[in-house]
Amino acid sequence: MLITNIRHLINVRPNTGRLRGSQLAELPVLNHAYLKIDDGRITGFGRMEDLHHFGDYRIVDAEGRSVLPAWCDSHSHLVFAASREAEFIDKIKGLSYAEIAAKGGGILNSARKLAETEEEVLFDLAKERLSRLIRLGTGALEIKSGYGLSTETELKMLRVIRRLKEWAPVPVKATFLGAHAIPMEYKGNRRAYIDLILQEMLPAIVQENLADYIDVFCEEGFFSQAETEEICRVGAAFGLKPKIHANQLNISGGVQAGYRTGALSVDHLETISDEEIRILGLTDAPMATLLPTAAYFLRMGFPPARRLIENNAAVVLASDFNPGSSPSGNMNMVVSMSCIQMKMLPEEAINAATLNGAYAMELEEELGSIATGKRANLILTEKIPSVAYLPYSFGENLVDQVIINGEFYE
Ligand code: NIG
Ligand code: FE
Repeated sequence: MLITNIRHLINVRPNTGRLRGSQLAELPVLNHAYLKIDDGRITGFGRMEDLHHFGDYRIVDAEGRSVLPAWCDSHSHLVFAASREAEFIDKIKGLSYAEIAAKGGGILNSARKLAETEEEVLFDLAKERLSRLIRLGTGALEIKSGYGLSTETELKMLRVIRRLKEWAPVPVKATFLGAHAIPMEYKGNRRAYIDLILQEMLPAIVQENLADYIDVFCEEGFFSQAETEEICRVGAAFGLKPKIHANQLNISGGVQAGYRTGALSVDHLETISDEEIRILGLTDAPMATLLPTAAYFLRMGFPPARRLIENNAAVVLASDFNPGSSPSGNMNMVVSMSCIQMKMLPEEAINAATLNGAYAMELEEELGSIATGKRANLILTEKIPSVAYLPYSFGENLVDQVIINGEFYE
């Protein structure tokens, strides 16, 4: 395929490492460009004026539309059995996320429903959700377990994710989140649940090669900093790098736990102090993944993206798609909201949702920018006057077509 007359070819660059601090504001754009794709990979690009022979490529005339790398969404809980709009109403009426969780709603509610649902049904539901996300421009996705909370059901979830990996045309990464909540029957004996994770779940998961990463919900009422570190260390010894839920509702020690255990990313960060911001600016710190639609849906303050960027953090944007705190996986909305509510520049938000998202799933060799050799997972936008128009026109769907592995995704 040869795409001609591209108004803006966005994020054209080879890998330069994770984008930190002021690097996030540099978004290389080629105006009036063409792009060549062979066997699902990008094989060339340049300015239209330098395109002299068309070979026998299938020509797609972009007619002044723009092209950018598909979104790399590095944090989701895509596999779940049922939506939770009753809790949405409870929240409207005044209950908090933590109060709903404490009375057996929230994650435990999703775990009950998932236990009752057949693997086949979960797979069908997740396929449908993933197809919708791809149509919205998502070209790679990380998916967590964590609505199982028993060995059998965590394995069931992870097997669904493995089947999604095989079925999906986009890369999928699997994260084991057995430490998402303490099940009711372990409330009086949390140690026994942690032992179950470490001694029974982890070995079984690694044996079947079902996970790429390990995650812990490090939060008051869920898992402490010490427990998070312990679980991450054992996970890492089994070959699973940590990606941690940290500081969503309270300062939890999750950033420190992530730093000390070599986490790939620490995610959420709605609640944060100067000390965590300092740590996240260190060159060997985990990436800082912000999930603005979750903050929005729970009516929390937004994470301090500006201060993180000023302090050199490698900011990533992701959807957190899940039935409790972000029932939308629309990355276009995430990018818009990041500009509007967290004052990220459009360039910063697009970098954070593409190249840095790819780094946060270790897919940077494959995705996240327009570079020769990378997979042709691309968004072809409607005609837009400028790159900033994308986040500016929030709530509009400007994704005209999506290209996955060099083919139009229908
Ligand atoms: O990332 N905070 C923990 N986990 C999810 C929400 C899970 C749920 O409510 O089902 C999150 O927000
Ligand atoms: Fe999450």
